[in-house]
Amino acid sequence: MTKPGTFVVHATDGNARRGTLSTAHGDIQTPIFMPVGTQGTVKSLSPQDLEEMNAQIILGNTYHLYLRPGDELVARRGGLHKFSNWNRPILTDSGGFQVFSLKGIRKLSEEGVEFRSYIDGSKHFFSPEKAIEIQMNLGSDIMMVLDECVGYGADRGYTEKSLEMTTRWAKRCRERYPAGSGDQLMFGIVQGGFFKDLRTRSAEQLCSLPFEGFAIGGLSVGESIPEMYEQVHHTAPLLPAEKPRYLMGVGTPLDLLEAVSAGVDMLDCVLPSRNARNGTLFTSQGKINIKKAAYKEDDSPLDPNCNCYTCRNFSKAYLRHLYMSKELLSYRLNTYHNLYFYLDLMQQVRDSIENGTFAQLKARYEDAYAA
Ligand code: GUN
Ligand code: ZN
Repeated sequence: MTKPGTFVVHATDGNARRGTLSTAHGDIQTPIFMPVGTQGTVKSLSPQDLEEMNAQIILGNTYHLYLRPGDELVARRGGLHKFSNWNRPILTDSGGFQVFSLKGIRKLSEEGVEFRSYIDGSKHFFSPEKAIEIQMNLGSDIMMVLDECVGYGADRGYTEKSLEMTTRWAKRCRERYPAGSGDQLMFGIVQGGFFKDLRTRSAEQLCSLPFEGFAIGGLSVGESIPEMYEQVHHTAPLLPAEKPRYLMGVGTPLDLLEAVSAGVDMLDCVLPSRNARNGTLFTSQGKINIKKAAYKEDDSPLDPNCNCYTCRNFSKAYLRHLYMSKELLSYRLNTYHNLYFYLDLMQQVRDSIENGTFAQLKARYEDAYAA
């Protein structure tokens, strides 16, 4: 087994990179999209489904799993991999984002963040150390530091104080689990809102700490697409070329391509799985909504260019019927297709970087998704 944390860039095309990141549960081929499995499950799919569609790594959430069923209960069962029977890599988010997206029910201080459970209203406290201890109990391959994700529209003064605290928290996280002390990796998270010089400062501070990778946080929080792209293009090149770069919580197929063009290696988003459950499906010809009356008697597959189980076996008319009847199978077949589509897109991205044709691939999807 290659030493966890080893990252090799095999090829580049412009700023896009084709790499391999080694973890304790195997290698990840980058650029990669990571399906979100908040509660230790990618909603409506089994690990078998995910393996079949070549998912290489999935996400779990510290915040949710700490509250239910509890990280210690998971640890007693040998960790999240064993508990959920997913034997490929897992990345856990720190809980920072989840706590902060539940505004009004938190108290923030240098020591950490106090919040109320979304389940029963009980009070809890995450220090940076606690967030890491939970992720140690979960046994994820990649742990994320506790950070503050400032909302869109936060002023410069607040953003500056916040990023400085996020750096101190990152340092405390790293001290709780020093580099090389085990098989788990830890990524720092760059903040700095929508102020480029603050992004630069955050990146400089974090990159002086010994993390195995670096994330770009604080985006997709209500800004316009051009604003998001501007920050990604500004921030990605500030991160060390020899370590993986992870853009958190982004995005649409075009966002994935744009991020890769800026030098991003890893992304996650609830978009393909959440959209699937409300009938919005991504195809090689653009986005469609399966509930449209136009599909009532449409016997063609969802995406004629897709090889997934859903597209090989079912018509749009049937998928529409399942959706309209709120059948459980609708969630499953739609989620299967959307995630397959995202993972296949990233396979095409990896191939195109190796072939030096990434720009053409990006242009093709920009045409398909222009409407
Ligand atoms: N997910 C999406 N954005 C963020 C962020 O800024 N921080 C964390 N921890 N998770 C995220
Ligand atoms: Zn499909």
